[in-house]
Amino acid sequence: MAKGGYGWSLDGALPVIEDHSRAKHDVLRAYLINYLRILAQHPRSEGIRVTLVDGFAGGGRYRTESGEEVSGSPLVLLEALQEARALVAMDRKQRGIRTPYVIDAHVHLVEQNRSTCAFLRKVIADSSLASSSDTRVTIHGNDFHRALPGILKDIQDRQRRNGRSVFILDQYGWSQVNLDAVKQIFAELPYAEVFLTWMIDNLINFLSEQMIDKLNPALQRTGLGQAITAEQLLAIKQTDSGLDGDLAWRRAIQTLMTGQIRASSGAAFSTPFYIVPRNSRRGYWLLHLARHWRANEEMKRIHWESNNLHHPGGAGFNMLGYLGNHGQLAFDNRFDEHAHQATRDALRRDIPQRMSQLHSPIRFGDLVQLTANETPARLDQLQEAVFALSRERQLTVTTQSGATRRGAHSIASEDLIELPTQLWLLPN
Ligand SMILES: C[S@@+](CC[C@H](N)C(=O)[O-])C[C@H]1O[C@@H](n2cnc3c(N)ncnc32)[C@H](O)[C@@H]1O
Repeated sequence: MAKGGYGWSLDGALPVIEDHSRAKHDVLRAYLINYLRILAQHPRSEGIRVTLVDGFAGGGRYRTESGEEVSGSPLVLLEALQEARALVAMDRKQRGIRTPYVIDAHVHLVEQNRSTCAFLRKVIADSSLASSSDTRVTIHGNDFHRALPGILKDIQDRQRRNGRSVFILDQYGWSQVNLDAVKQIFAELPYAEVFLTWMIDNLINFLSEQMIDKLNPALQRTGLGQAITAEQLLAIKQTDSGLDGDLAWRRAIQTLMTGQIRASSGAAFSTPFYIVPRNSRRGYWLLHLARHWRANEEMKRIHWESNNLHHPGGAGFNMLGYLGNHGQLAFDNRFDEHAHQATRDALRRDIPQRMSQLHSPIRFGDLVQLTANETPARLDQLQEAVFALSRERQLTVTTQSGATRRGAHSIASEDLIELPTQLWLLPN
């Protein structure tokens, strides 16, 4: 809803960047570099074509409180491409691969505001990164939704095989991106990945009788109007009368909305970390949406590696869980050693419980996919928890040939996990 935000103009001062934007840029940069390095791993491959789309690009430059100039997301994309090219060349040299590798990138930058777009054009014209022979930059002074069909066509024409692409939809507030557009991206490009920011606190703080007439059209604009109404959200807010009611209804609304955003966008996987940047109290979602589990796993790895953001939520299969017994935050995940321990302990409790709810053995890979949207845990953490449980005889793990596993990280997708007979009746 809130239009607010940064302002760029050719004759004005640079806007001062907020903490949460810097934290987001760090995650984005780390993710893109990792993404491009993974694509480049095949030794016989000579290169890839990839498209990066910044759908809400902004002006491309900021300054910090202390006056230092820093990059906006368009430059973060170009810097990530440059860094990835250097790292891929180094990786391949170390592996003795002589074939040069080309990352042929098309970067689409979309910015609707005329003055911001003029500023962006200048920033890009002045950047040497935008004139690399392997990078083409197209700037669209347009609404993202209007520019999207042309961008999708460009990707399909240029990358007929798989249309690998990353879309960054960094809106102000929460109601500027229509999820039908995200659905169209996934329908036409199954290998696309989408970063979507969603200022959930703006919506929650606005929720009142007086705002219903404004919230319903905003929900319609996002494409959630059929699934969620403002009256429904308000009813959730008003039903809780407990002492710690604030956290309870916030949690209920957040759980409802993440599920609906994933469903309405056509993504199979999302990482709904509720991000509270260090030094800031303003929380928001940095959603990573994808159709493939592997992309979800890589996003979680980046959160654990960069750990400059935190997620106040559950550690096991209760990632959105806010409440402890007395309504306090159940756990504040800072993606650090303490969070690692808490995740391990929670998984050791939650996995047998989930198994008993399922009432049947399950392949390890299926358990991983089934719980991907519920847990911050990475694959290796799930492997370690399952292995520890098997050593404690709370589970059995059997390979396809009927053998047992000797190490956690050798647990494979096809391995069958079962509860010992006496544990199938564990209370839920
Ligand atoms: C949060 S700012 C972007 C910040 C930028 N992504 C960064 O990280 O440096 C959102 C930008 O989207 C632009 N915008 C708003 N609605 C838009 C739309 N429908 N299509 C394209 N741009 C839009 C705004 O003018 C604003 O510059």
